[in-house]
Amino acid sequence: MICHKVYLIDDDAEMRAATAQWLELAGYDVTTFPNAPTALAQLNAEIEGIVITDVKMPKMDGMEFLARLNSFDKEIPVILVTAHGDVQMAVEAMRQGAYDFIEKPFAPERILDVIQRACEMRRLVMENRDLRRRLSDNVDIDQRLLGNCPAIRHLREEILNVSDTDVPVLIQGETGTGKEVVARCLHDFGARKDGNYVAINCGAVPESMFESELFGHERGAFTGADRRRIGRFEYAQKGSLFLDEIGTMPLPLQVKVLRALQEREVVRIGSNEPQPIDVRLISATNKDLLDECSAGRFREDLYYRINVVELRVPPLRERGGDILLLFDYFSAQASATYNRPAVPLKDQDAGLLMAHNWPGNVRELKNVAERCVLSSLPEEQRLSAILRNPNMEAVLPEGSSLQDLLRHYERCLLEQALLRHKGDVQLVMEDLNLPRRTLNEKMTRYKLERKDFT
Ligand SMILES: Nc1ncnc2c1ncn2[C@@H]1O[C@H](COP(=O)(O)OP(=O)(O)OP(=O)(O)O)[C@@H](O)[C@H]1O
Ligand SMILES: [Mg+2]
Repeated sequence: MICHKVYLIDDDAEMRAATAQWLELAGYDVTTFPNAPTALAQLNAEIEGIVITDVKMPKMDGMEFLARLNSFDKEIPVILVTAHGDVQMAVEAMRQGAYDFIEKPFAPERILDVIQRACEMRRLVMENRDLRRRLSDNVDIDQRLLGNCPAIRHLREEILNVSDTDVPVLIQGETGTGKEVVARCLHDFGARKDGNYVAINCGAVPESMFESELFGHERGAFTGADRRRIGRFEYAQKGSLFLDEIGTMPLPLQVKVLRALQEREVVRIGSNEPQPIDVRLISATNKDLLDECSAGRFREDLYYRINVVELRVPPLRERGGDILLLFDYFSAQASATYNRPAVPLKDQDAGLLMAHNWPGNVRELKNVAERCVLSSLPEEQRLSAILRNPNMEAVLPEGSSLQDLLRHYERCLLEQALLRHKGDVQLVMEDLNLPRRTLNEKMTRYKLERKDFT
C-alpha cells in the first residue's frame, strides 16, 4: 500500500493551484477542494491519504473541518495552514488532534518533510487496519471450519490464500468431510463475497435438464420452455459457482462446460447471443477424478481446467482429537436446538468415538451427536448403542443405491462385531452366526483386517 494522496483545501484559487502543482511535481497525487463542505462530501475513513487545509475559510473554518474529520476517522493526518504568528491557534489545533501546522507563507521545500511523515503514518494506520480486518476474518473461518489438527489448520490457511484470487479450485474429499463448508468459505472469505454464491449438485440434476439449468434458455427454446430462464452460470455473475459432485456430470455436458470456461461466455438454449460470464469456479468431488479420466468418464481437458488449485479435505478418522472437539460442538448445538441437556463426554465414550472408523465423516459424527442428545437411553449406554446401529443416510452420499446402503450396513455390522470382540474371529463368528469362510470372504471384500481390532 502506497500512500501519496493529498487532499488540499483552500478557498484561495491561486494559492490552491500553485500548491497543487508544486505537490504534483514532488510526486503526490493531489485532489483539491475550494471549501470544507465539498471536501467532507468526498472524504471518508477509507482514504489512503492526508489532508492539508487552510484555516481561515468562509462556510466552515479549518478548525471545525478538523473536528468533522476526526468524528469519522481520528487517524487521518490533517495539516493546518495557519496565519503567520498565530501561535495560539496553532497550539489549539494540535491539541484538537491536528497532525501538524505550517505557517503562511511557506516555502514548499520546507513542508515536504512534514507531508512525507504524515503519509507514512497514514500508510501504517491503513496497513494495520487491513491486518486487523484479516485477523478477524480468520477468527471467523476458525468458527466455520472447526478443528485444530494440523491438516485442518493448513486447509484453512490454503483457503485464505486462494480465496482472494479467481483461480478455479477443486475440492476433493470423502463423503461428509466438509467439502461444501470449504466451498462456502472460499466464497465468503474472498473478494467475491458480495456477489452470489450459486451451488448446483451435478448428481441431483436429471440429464435432460442439465444444460438449461447451467446455461439457461430462451422462451420457446423447447417444449415446456414457456418463459426465459437464466442459468446458474449467469446467476453467479461476479460471484462464485459451485459445481458439487462434478464427477457425475454427463460427458456431453462436460464439453459444453469446458467451452463456457474457455470462452468465458455462455449461450442460452434457443439463443445465438453469447452472454459474457465472470464467475469463480469451485468444484467438488468424492471420486478420484484422474481415475474417472482414465476410465473415460471424465474429460481430461476439463479436469485440468477446473483443478488449478486442489484442496484436499481429510477424512475424519485422520483428524485425531478433532473428533472429540466436533462431537462436543455438535452435541452442544443439538442440545440448544432441541432444548435437551447436552451429553458430557465420558472417558469410555471418547474411546468409542476415537475407535470408530467414521465412513460418513463429519456428517455422520453430527448425526451421532444429535441422536445422543435426543436418545432416551441412560447416558452411559447411548453412544455405544448408537454406534452399533448407524444411520445409513448419514453415512453415504445422498442418492446412494439400495445395494450400496446394504453393503455399507453389512460392513458396519462386521466392524462393530470385530471391535466388540477385539478382533477375536471365533467370537465374531458365533455372535453373527456366520461360517468362518463367509466371514473371511466378507472381511476381505470390505478390507477389514483382524489386526486393526486387536
Ligand atoms: N470442519 C467442520 N466444522 C464444522 N462443521 C462441519 C465441518 N465439516 C463439516 N461440517 C458439517 O458436517 C456436515 C457435512 O459437511 P458437508 O456437507 O460440507 O460435507 P461434504 O463433503 O460436502 O459431503 P458430501 O460428500 O456428502 O457432499 C455439514 O452439516 C457441515 O456443516
Ligand atoms: Mg457436499
